[in-house]
Amino acid sequence: MVKKAVLLCLSFCFVQSFFGQGRNRFFSDSSLMLVGSYYYPEQWPKDNWARDLKKMGELGFDFTHFGEFAWAAMEPEEGRYDFSWLDEAVKIAEKNHLKVIMCTPTPTPPAWLTKKYPEVLMVNDEGRTIRHGARQHASWSSKKYREYVEKIVTILARRYGNNKAVWGWQIDNEPSHYGSPYDYNASAQANFREWLRKKYKTIDALNKSWATTFWSLTYNDFNQIRIPNAKELVQQPNPHAILDFKRFTADEVASFVLFQQKILRKYVSPQQWITTNLIPDFNPVDPNRMAALDIMTYTKYLVAGFEMGEGEQGFRMGSSTSIGYSNDRFRPINGLSGVMELQPGQVNWGKYNPQTMPGTVRMWIYHVFAGGNKFVCNYRFRQPLFAGEQYHYGILKTDGITVSSSGDEYIQVIKELHSLKKSYHPGTPVPPAYAARKTAILFSQESQWETDNQPQTNQWNFMNHIMKYYRALQSFGAPVDVIDEHADFSAYPVVIAPCFQLLDKALVAKWKNYVEQGGHLVLTCRTGQKDREAHLWEAKFAAPIYDLIGAKEISYDLLPEERTGHIKMGEQTFKWNNWADVIEAGDAEVVATYNDQFYKGKAAVVFKKIGKGTVTYIGPDTDDGELEREVLKKLYTNAGIGLLDLPKGVVVGWRDGFWIGLNYTSQQQNIPVPDNATIMLGSKTLAPADVVIWKE
Ligand code: GAL
Repeated sequence: MVKKAVLLCLSFCFVQSFFGQGRNRFFSDSSLMLVGSYYYPEQWPKDNWARDLKKMGELGFDFTHFGEFAWAAMEPEEGRYDFSWLDEAVKIAEKNHLKVIMCTPTPTPPAWLTKKYPEVLMVNDEGRTIRHGARQHASWSSKKYREYVEKIVTILARRYGNNKAVWGWQIDNEPSHYGSPYDYNASAQANFREWLRKKYKTIDALNKSWATTFWSLTYNDFNQIRIPNAKELVQQPNPHAILDFKRFTADEVASFVLFQQKILRKYVSPQQWITTNLIPDFNPVDPNRMAALDIMTYTKYLVAGFEMGEGEQGFRMGSSTSIGYSNDRFRPINGLSGVMELQPGQVNWGKYNPQTMPGTVRMWIYHVFAGGNKFVCNYRFRQPLFAGEQYHYGILKTDGITVSSSGDEYIQVIKELHSLKKSYHPGTPVPPAYAARKTAILFSQESQWETDNQPQTNQWNFMNHIMKYYRALQSFGAPVDVIDEHADFSAYPVVIAPCFQLLDKALVAKWKNYVEQGGHLVLTCRTGQKDREAHLWEAKFAAPIYDLIGAKEISYDLLPEERTGHIKMGEQTFKWNNWADVIEAGDAEVVATYNDQFYKGKAAVVFKKIGKGTVTYIGPDTDDGELEREVLKKLYTNAGIGLLDLPKGVVVGWRDGFWIGLNYTSQQQNIPVPDNATIMLGSKTLAPADVVIWKE
């Protein structure tokens, strides 16, 4: 399909900081990645603290993590503060050479607060008030709640903001409201109306954008508007209202986090960094809205009965794309990333909670390392003997003294990292072949929200769609940045924009310009169907991208779950089932065609050259991702970009002069380590859950 494209100019070369860790005043490069563990002084008898933190220091951990659930211990009654225990715990940590991540305790408002001001509690879509009894029950929108948050955060910031032992700050904990992310209380209703008023200025503008003439939904005043809620309606809510409500909620949680950041910044030393720990891909929380944090961090649990991984034992290791994608999603947001929580082995809250395969925790830590992260923190040091997480592993077993199997894996990595640090050379250039396959995935948050709400088939899953591309890139050994549309595309030889449904002509022009300059753009199904208000265009379906991709018209088809459609690409046949954009080609080259259904012979994949670059449009979303992988492989190969060909579940990455190979599969695997490489640890042949690190 593509003739050899000239390999790419200066703008695509990456000599300096590969991971673009621009604002790195907080972390020294030569530390590579620091390792820590969570500790809850308030949960253990005081006479355990010295023993436990001494042990943590002796085992080689660099830092610990205090306080995110300790509001009731910090302020047992309104206005009566007690930090003596925390002061002491910080001192003991310092004595044991452990830096401290201090947290704001805002996911756990004390009982006295919620009793006195029940309006701070969130309300779910059934109209039920979420009560004291677990965590994250307070409303991000409540002014009263924010008043109390401001008080406790100010006091904490003043007390520890210049304490040399405090390394950085975590705001709240996994702000997300877990399984019930949307809040419908009176404050949220009022803030939503205010948000709409700011956005639309006049009610007429809102009526127009929400197309409220449909079913006589027309509003006379912003005060008539309620949060769209299927549970209080006979039929589906207005999709434009839903999209705005998701945008609003993402803004609300970001504003709750950034509000705390502002308070902290006022008082804490410029040397102390500030973050929050986010669950990756947890809607409607949008990490990009929190890019003003000093460092982006995420939490990760892979073995809990949900991810089957590769092969018979894959359920004990999780999916190889899980940490990989989160690394590549979080790091590019502002150039600095860390992992605030990493699963320590067996947990308590899964569908079922299997043991991890021996070696897995170590492999995960190296996957975090490979992603350029500045630190990784184990959750948690001691296995709890009581309360909600009793069966959750720690670094120490239930006796509080013996190191657990995952503790042993941490200790091993900590020692290995010390020897890697000795052979670290600052400024080691990125291997050119690796840089040449650097790829951006252009992530459209709004398209995820919109297609989740209007999937059109029970088989549509936005993240699964993206993961088919990510998995292919992982098998190529390609470094990936997940970026948003405002980023500079010129840093990437290839940009893949999966399902970019909502767009405008300016973005199409930016894409075209990127291609003209020599970039390879890949667009996929559902792209360009709607404008930014999520209206279809008053033109042919998805018309704004026709010229770019060389199409005359696009329609789409969907199959029942138990049927399979077929696609022909040269001699190869592929199956599809979920989604098929059926393309009437214009001046594009047809790369693959549908081989059955009434539109047999119509294009499934098209390709077009523009200027120095190329555009590929992939119309189907398949179950196995094989077509997607094969199209990408042809594209890279024809563009002269060298690829690896790794089996599913094998990962090869590069960081700071070190190549890292990981085996998430259930079989032994041979890693493509060149003959002249110096192996730092492990060997070319990896058992399941094993790791090899080499230098070239
Ligand atoms: C995380 C959470 C921690 C702890 C952990 C247990 O999602 O942030 O506080 O509950 O799960 O695995």
